[in-house]
Amino acid sequence: MHVRSLRLAHFRNYESLEVEFHPQLNLFLGPNAQGKTNVLEALYCLSTTRSFRAASDEEMIQFGREEGAVEGILQREEGEETIRMEFRRSRNKVLWVNRKKQKKLSLLLGRLPAVVFSPDDLFLVKGGPALRRRYLDMTVLQMDQGYLTHLQQYDRALKQRNSLLRQRSPGTESQLAAWDQPLARHGAALMLKRGEVAKRLSDFAGQALRDLTGDAERFEVRYEPCLPWEGLESSVAEKMLEALAGARREETARGVTVVGPHRDDLGLWVNGQLLRKFGSQGQQRTGALALKLAQLSLLAEGCHTAPLVLFDDVMAELDEKRQAFFLNRLRQGGQAFLTGTSPHDFSAASKAARIFSVELGRVQWVQSGPEG
Ligand SMILES: Nc1ncnc2c1ncn2[C@@H]1O[C@H](COP(=O)(O)OP(=O)(O)OP(=O)(O)O)[C@@H](O)[C@H]1O
Ligand SMILES: [Mg+2]
Repeated sequence: MHVRSLRLAHFRNYESLEVEFHPQLNLFLGPNAQGKTNVLEALYCLSTTRSFRAASDEEMIQFGREEGAVEGILQREEGEETIRMEFRRSRNKVLWVNRKKQKKLSLLLGRLPAVVFSPDDLFLVKGGPALRRRYLDMTVLQMDQGYLTHLQQYDRALKQRNSLLRQRSPGTESQLAAWDQPLARHGAALMLKRGEVAKRLSDFAGQALRDLTGDAERFEVRYEPCLPWEGLESSVAEKMLEALAGARREETARGVTVVGPHRDDLGLWVNGQLLRKFGSQGQQRTGALALKLAQLSLLAEGCHTAPLVLFDDVMAELDEKRQAFFLNRLRQGGQAFLTGTSPHDFSAASKAARIFSVELGRVQWVQSGPEG
């Protein structure tokens, strides 16, 4: 499967855009602030309905406009498919598949999996747990549609509980108890799934790091749940209910829910040491790359199709050996989209790619690339 073409209307700095991609390798070159990352962002919207960098959808609508749209034509084995996302200010976005309006945005998840590589990936290692939870959740979501329901229901229960706890009025105890059940039930489902996926990610990330370092380093991704658990979903839910009961006093004092997977983390370890604390810059960077490569492998396996690879500005950071490694990886995988400011960053890739130049919200072919 691949994206044949992309159309944008009032999206970021694109008034309008229509562009046809190469089925394998696409390269976007241009100076800073011209619209390269915006193209990757649009592709990511087709994959997940949202941006990988904007906090809200509205940010993606062109300044001064009320609406913006992203439309992609996918070439699947079964035939062609058109996906269209419309973003509107102060209103919900709308999804169209083959010109039919869709009620559920979640329909899109997993149909066109995508992995973004960006210099910000370093924060996966150096930043707080929220980023790692998001990485884990975005991986699971693309493979398991049921996960979204648990995530949404858990979030709802958590918000309700927190607002009750914040009120600190004595009459809220029974209402609070009523939210314990859904919190524990959906929380348990999240924890089990996260544990399972973290294990697979660890295997793949370990392999990726061995490949990247020539077998020199051992990488481990450990799921660090908010409370230790083992066994079946029902017993995990029991455990969580017990923990909630035990934490009641603390929760009332602090006015916030202190037990649950909203406090989970992923521990990243290299050669038995915590990467965040003891890793060198280079090791941290490589660790972040390994995490993304693991996501790529896992999604390929879980979605039964090679994910889109969106490679934003990372080539320049890689030494020659790693560039070669990546290009080799990309060749085995699905369709890839790379951005950079200089053709020199892509010496090896540029022969095999369709090359576009990006300037002030305009995209032009520079080279068509090998016949698909
Ligand atoms: N909602 C918006 N409406 C109009 N323009 C926008 C909007 N959001 C961002 N832009 C503009 O889009 C431009 C290009 O953004 P983009 O991030 O794609 O650049 P880039 O080519 O990737 O640059 P760099 O090489 O620095 O990463 C920026 O100058 C920004 O001001
Ligand atoms: Mg950019």
